[in-house]
Amino acid sequence: MRAIRLHARGGPERLVYEDAPLPEPAAGEALLRVYAAGVTPTELTWSETYQTPDGHERLPTIPGHDVSGVVEALGPDVSDVSLGDAVYGLIAFPRDGSAAEYAVVRAGDLAPKPRTLDHVHAAAVPISALTAWQALFTHAGLSAGQRVLIHGAAGGVGVFAVQLARWRGAHVSATASARHHEFLRELGVETVIDYRTARFEEVLRDVDVVLDTIGGDTLERSWNVLRRGGTLVSVAAPPPPRPARDAGTRGIFFIVEPSRAQLVEIGELIDAGQIRPVLNAVLPLARAREAFERGQAGHVRGKIVLRVDDSEATP
Ligand SMILES: NC(=O)c1ccc[n+]([C@@H]2O[C@H](COP(=O)([O-])OP(=O)(O)OC[C@H]3O[C@@H](n4cnc5c(N)ncnc54)[C@H](OP(=O)(O)O)[C@@H]3O)[C@@H](O)[C@H]2O)c1
Repeated sequence: MRAIRLHARGGPERLVYEDAPLPEPAAGEALLRVYAAGVTPTELTWSETYQTPDGHERLPTIPGHDVSGVVEALGPDVSDVSLGDAVYGLIAFPRDGSAAEYAVVRAGDLAPKPRTLDHVHAAAVPISALTAWQALFTHAGLSAGQRVLIHGAAGGVGVFAVQLARWRGAHVSATASARHHEFLRELGVETVIDYRTARFEEVLRDVDVVLDTIGGDTLERSWNVLRRGGTLVSVAAPPPPRPARDAGTRGIFFIVEPSRAQLVEIGELIDAGQIRPVLNAVLPLARAREAFERGQAGHVRGKIVLRVDDSEATP
């Protein structure tokens, strides 16, 4: 099969478009014919991209953890999916990914592709939507009527966080550069703050939940806007110790986990028109290096996706 691989740790310059062996599904796994793969630019810096779960070097490695495709073959003991199913999912991090014509995925991590999306749009969903879901609902327990601040709201995770928080009935504030403001208001953000010209802690206070996708100074200053008992959840870095005056607040960092059940719910929300993926750009698999470079340059709106199967007469 044709695949994007890295033969050594590094950045987008290490990505090679070449032939690779067709992977075989083991027990509990499905072989997918990949139609589209989402790009997560930061994954090239993660140790999981180059290691097995028990820490051994895993090279060459295929990037790409968002996948949308069709089940081509099954290993033993698979009951979650059937041959020919159109599915989408988050491929666990210490495994070869979706930037290839075929990928082997744990069948229990796959869910039916939302029927209203083609594969390219479906591949923009799993990591970003699951991260937003788990941050807001699993970890922060966001509920209707609460106030949430989302940092990096126009990015891959942010656009789903905004929509899921609105769906839950929360009041959403956000930070983003000015060129995203109109777009974010259309998505349902009530207060948008340009992080380049204003300090969010001078605009907001008594927020119930902050979702941080930026880290650094943004994360550290976020304690200042929380109400007593509020939650700061970051997917960028562990929150630094909270200042003594902010007793009663809590800080959380977590790594997103695959979840078939959550992807089913997210797919139902998409098919009901409640939330939608936002595409930044669609490039062919052969141009993966350019896709990762664009992502790493930052300031993207939504998600960059690799189209793997050009024929896409979408099943
Ligand atoms: N822990 C986990 O499980 C997990 C899961 C998924 C992602 N992540 C991490 O989460 C981070 C975000 O991922 P992503 O896919 O959403 O990234 P992304 O698509 O690159 O989005 C980042 C967004 O932040 C904006 N931004 C940049 N600097 C900002 C600042 N100082 N304040 C507010 N907004 C700013 C950017 O656009 P503008 O500057 O134009 O506004 C961009 O829209 C990455 O570090 C990623 O590795 C972690």
